[in-house]
This record gives sequence, structure tokens and C-alpha cells, in this order.
Amino acid sequence: MTPEQQSRNTRALCELAPVIPVLVVGDATRAEGLATALVAGGLPVLEVTLRTPAALDVIRAMAKVPGGHVGAGTVLTPDDAKRARDAGASFAVSPGLTERLARACEEIDLPLLPGAVTASEVMRAMELGYSMLKFFPAEAAGGAKSLKSLAGPLPQVSFCPTGGVTLQNAPDYLALPNVVCVGGSWIAPDADVAASDWAAIETRARDARTLR
Ligand code: 3PG
Repeated sequence: MTPEQQSRNTRALCELAPVIPVLVVGDATRAEGLATALVAGGLPVLEVTLRTPAALDVIRAMAKVPGGHVGAGTVLTPDDAKRARDAGASFAVSPGLTERLARACEEIDLPLLPGAVTASEVMRAMELGYSMLKFFPAEAAGGAKSLKSLAGPLPQVSFCPTGGVTLQNAPDYLALPNVVCVGGSWIAPDADVAASDWAAIETRARDARTLR
């Protein structure tokens, strides 16, 4: 799958809901309940970060939940991409972009949403064929104001800003012409996941769903 096709695919996923929950899950027994609550709340596209030993098992379990689209986050290397794909991830998210990672995702047909924040990084991603990017770390890199500035010279690229995005500042991003959706971990805080408080998470997902 070429980078152009990958971006068409990730853009379609980003259009499904205003927020992609970014999930850091340490216990795979929580996966099914968590994904079910998020999908029920109207957020079907889920990013499971490869930051815990359980992450691949979490992806495996979530991939079985009807109506969900489960991707792997924090994909840094070709090996990460392969392991995520083998676990059932239908897309991958990376905080940045390397040629090796782009090549690997092309070879294994895994749509990649790569990160970029400066004009040069965005131009590099465009050279490789990507037009749908993650703007990371969104708030630390200047927030909606910075992202708005990129829309002038680089209108052909769209973004999913992630990193410091909240229910409060998400509307500023979603109002921009070059933003398709936002990503954030606020939807599923550790304490609620640890307590299996699926009702609280579903409510937060419903609130997020109404952002657009
Ligand atoms: C991440 O990769 O950690 C995401 O950018 C989530 O950031 P957040 O925790 O600030 O939402």
C-alpha cells in the first residue's frame, strides 16, 4: 500500500469521529470492556500505544470488538509495525516519520499516520507521499495557532493533532480547515481503566463525540 493510499485510508478513519482515544493499557483483561465502552460512546477508532508489555495482547482483544477500528500507537520501527499488524492492528500511528518505517508500512500494507510538526517535517512527509499526518506534540509545539499557520503554505495536508489536547481545547483544533480529528488520552484515564469504570469512559466518549 503506497503512502498515498495509506493516507487515504487513515483520513477515512479520522473522519469517523472527532476524537481518537489514545490508550495506554497495562492489563489486557481490561481491553474488551474498554473498547466496548468507547465504541458504544461513539468513538470507534482507537489507538493502543505500544508502551506497555500488554499492548499487543490489548490490540488482539480489541480487534475483536464489533464496530471498532484498532490501531497501534508509538510505532517507531519496522518491527513494531509488523508486530502490530500481526496482532490485528488496522493502522499505525507514529510520533514522527522515518523512511524505513514508511517502507515497512508500504511492504506490509499497514496504513501509517506519521507525526510531523515543522514545515520541513511536513514537506518531507509529503515527498514520501503522505497527506494525512499527526501533529505531535500539539500543545507543546504551539497548539492550534501553529497548526493554523501551516494551513497557509501547506493546505494539501491534513492533521490529527495529539499531545495535550483536552475536551476544552479540542474545539480550537477542530475549527481549523486542516484538522480532521484530534487524538487524546483524556477519554480513558488510568484510574477509570484500572477500576473498569466503563460507564465513566462511555460518558466521556459521548461528550467527545459531540465536539463536531
Ligand atoms: C501520546 O502519544 O501520548 C499522545 O500524544 C497523547 O497525548 P495526551 O496524553 O497529551 O493526550
